[in-house]
Amino acid sequence: MWRDLKVLAEKSRGRGIASLFGAGRAADFSVEADGLFLDYSKTAIDSNARSALVALVDQCGVPERREAMFTGAPINQTEDRAVLHTALRNLSGGPVVVDGADVMPGVLRTLARMKSFAGMVRSGAYHGAGGSFTDVVNIGIGGSHLGPDMAVRALSPYADGPRCHFVSNVDGADISDTLARLDPARTLILVASKTFTTTETMTNAATARKWMAAGVDNPGAQFVALSSAAEKAAEWGIDATRVFGFEDWVGGRYSIWGPVGLSLMIAIGAEAFTDFLLGAEAMDVHFRTAGAGRNMPVMLALVGLWHTHACGYATRAVLPYDQRLGRLPAYLQQLEMESNGKSVAMDGHRLSHPSGPVVWGEPGTNGQHAFYQLIHQGTAIVPCEFLVAARGHEPQLAHHHTLLVANCLAQSEALMQGRDLDTARVLMQEKGFSGPELERQARHRVFPGGRPSTTLIYDLLTPYRLGQIIALYEHRVFVEGVVLGINSFDQWGVELGKELANAIAPILKGSVPVDAKDGSTRQLVKFVQAHREGPAS
Ligand code: F6P
Repeated sequence: MWRDLKVLAEKSRGRGIASLFGAGRAADFSVEADGLFLDYSKTAIDSNARSALVALVDQCGVPERREAMFTGAPINQTEDRAVLHTALRNLSGGPVVVDGADVMPGVLRTLARMKSFAGMVRSGAYHGAGGSFTDVVNIGIGGSHLGPDMAVRALSPYADGPRCHFVSNVDGADISDTLARLDPARTLILVASKTFTTTETMTNAATARKWMAAGVDNPGAQFVALSSAAEKAAEWGIDATRVFGFEDWVGGRYSIWGPVGLSLMIAIGAEAFTDFLLGAEAMDVHFRTAGAGRNMPVMLALVGLWHTHACGYATRAVLPYDQRLGRLPAYLQQLEMESNGKSVAMDGHRLSHPSGPVVWGEPGTNGQHAFYQLIHQGTAIVPCEFLVAARGHEPQLAHHHTLLVANCLAQSEALMQGRDLDTARVLMQEKGFSGPELERQARHRVFPGGRPSTTLIYDLLTPYRLGQIIALYEHRVFVEGVVLGINSFDQWGVELGKELANAIAPILKGSVPVDAKDGSTRQLVKFVQAHREGPAS
């Protein structure tokens, strides 16, 4: 199937993108979903390519697999689990059956407990030794960190609760810099870990507990667990009333919608958090019901597959023109790369095509003054995914927002249109150049153009919109995974490094000899051992 698409991609190469624009292309190559608008007209996809891409949806069994996901079938086959983060935002409460039992009563009970607890923290009814909580620290990593960190920043205009901080790295600098600013008597610690075994999180949590114990008489009362492993949280000493659990059918990188989102709920309140869930639920309904060509997650996935698999572009840049979405690229890195960065297909065979792309990015306009040079003139083509709101949360600074949006639109236009050599020559002539120097200078000012981008645009980044956007990306990753034949819901690729780190730690401490390691690792260990004590030179 990729062969035909590659032929179409090859044909599109010399043609550029701007030449595709006839009457109606912009509207035709766009999708609307409940206030979100995705414009993919600035890509080289034409009607033929789109038909071939849309055909993949049925060919690869996307509708069947989508139903299997929503209805609780064990589609995460290497772990024999259902994949039901969608149940966490199924606010209509219709039954979702796993192994013969409806999971919704449990989901709604936990949501109600979260709301009640978050409300008590926000009102001060549940407080620390020194009074109402001024600060909340979420200790977690990966999916137990990136979602709430990203969303709390994104929705800061709605935040009216205690300040939220996020500690993830096992580097002691992270927790030490965070706690240094806080008063233990007024700080609540959320230990977020699905497994409650992750080394980074448990090391940071133990450090936080010591810090708390030095400042208050009953430190345990200021700890909360967000975990699937209730018994481990209890062993660790967290009272059951402050353990918020979720089932193994919620993957870590899909867990923001449940207990792992507690910091967000405390920051913005239960009502705004509910709007966040409602936005995601609306996207779920759209994804489940809209026809492939009008289905936003499906089309975003197909555009991605076109770029990675038909055109052969190895990376994808996510460029939110929104400072508060600064952590979205990192969030999507985990969502996309941990889900689809695999080389074995669902059936155990090696993939015969590339896996998902490298995802990276930075908010605009900052990126423009850094890496956009390569995006415009480098030899690698990087499909760009712009996101922008029509208005910002600072009406008094509307002129800033106008400039922000102007830059976003200008970038996609520049990538598509480029600037040819003749235009560059005229430009240089106007600047007073002539002869060979004009020619030389002009060549540096050529923009090849024909570089693809999509733009996701919406009115304002509200909790509802953010919910829609995150669910959009989740389903996009799902569709890409199904078409690629990948299980998007396991992550075996993170295991080996963890195992080896556990083996190297005692070597560094000197309690286990280094001899069995390779030459490079031996020399690095020896360097650390020789330099880890004493003043820095
Ligand atoms: O190491 C990867 C990973 O397992 C992620 O998939 C997960 O989100 C993260 O670690 C944290 O895991 P946990 O929530 O169990 O601490």
